[in-house]
Amino acid sequence: MTDRISLDDHLGTLDAPEGLKTVLRVVAGACVDIRKVVAEGALVGALGASGAVNVQDEEQKKLDVISNDILTAALLACHAVAGVASEEMETVQPADHAGDYLALFDPLDGSSNIDINAPVGTIVSVLRAPQGTPTEADFLQSGRSQVAALYALYGAQTMLVLTTGSGVKGFTLSADGEWRLTHDAIAVSPDTKEFAINMSNQRHWSEAVQRYVDGVLKGADGPRGKNFNMRWVAAMVADVHRILMRGGVFLYPWDRREPEKPGKLRLMYEGNPMALLVEQAGGKATTDGTQAILDVQPEQLHQRIPVALGSANEIDAYAGV
Ligand code: F6P
Repeated sequence: MTDRISLDDHLGTLDAPEGLKTVLRVVAGACVDIRKVVAEGALVGALGASGAVNVQDEEQKKLDVISNDILTAALLACHAVAGVASEEMETVQPADHAGDYLALFDPLDGSSNIDINAPVGTIVSVLRAPQGTPTEADFLQSGRSQVAALYALYGAQTMLVLTTGSGVKGFTLSADGEWRLTHDAIAVSPDTKEFAINMSNQRHWSEAVQRYVDGVLKGADGPRGKNFNMRWVAAMVADVHRILMRGGVFLYPWDRREPEKPGKLRLMYEGNPMALLVEQAGGKATTDGTQAILDVQPEQLHQRIPVALGSANEIDAYAGV
């Protein structure tokens, strides 16, 4: 549908600094490049393990590394970017020039889906840069300071979902390689009958999470008085996309497997950008049902947090068990 507004045109009309628009154009272009490699997979030798582990002690896939290289190179070459940080890099990388923005990203979220041809995506958070060469401390801004957040979902369609702090818009990649507006004013329904959690961790959860999930599993016969459906794509980007499209809750709570870790997901490049998108779409994004992720003051670049986000009334129900 060539009569649909392009991302480029949308950014042209946006009341935002030119530098920020440039950063978003660069990210959108890098996501098209990542999409090409993801789509070709084995044809270009991109599947399988890279042989290395990242700073989180997770096995890196070749596509994690390739995606990280694509985004890092594109952003560091952008005059508006002062530095980048990524799930796949131990510390921050300053650009060799000044710039007004910092970008943090998970270059390929849902890595365990790569080799089975299931959805994966890219998540990006954009912050203002301080004067001078940015240090790690300069990236430790709360999620409320984000000037933009977006993800690209490499699914049945390739989509880019973006907020610059005033609503959420979705763009679909056309056959001729252009992002076109297909989802204006994305809104999360306040009520839902769908939840997403990795049920195999059930025995490790806290009592409160056990109670909540027990209640939804009992359906119409239990305290909630209605039947629930469950979905788990094992890629946060795809689970959050489903919630933006038709409501639901996504839960990755603290559990007893590694009790010293507050959760599995990372605050700076998973929790914060997704929280801004969900809040901007009218949903709630919390650590425990009550504390807003966006208000968490980060202490470390690769900090982990528990996540409970999605349909507002269902997040309240999660908080209330
Ligand atoms: O980045 C972490 C991640 O891959 C998320 O995208 C996803 O929601 C989660 O981990 C999947 O976790 P699990 O391996 O427990 O299913």
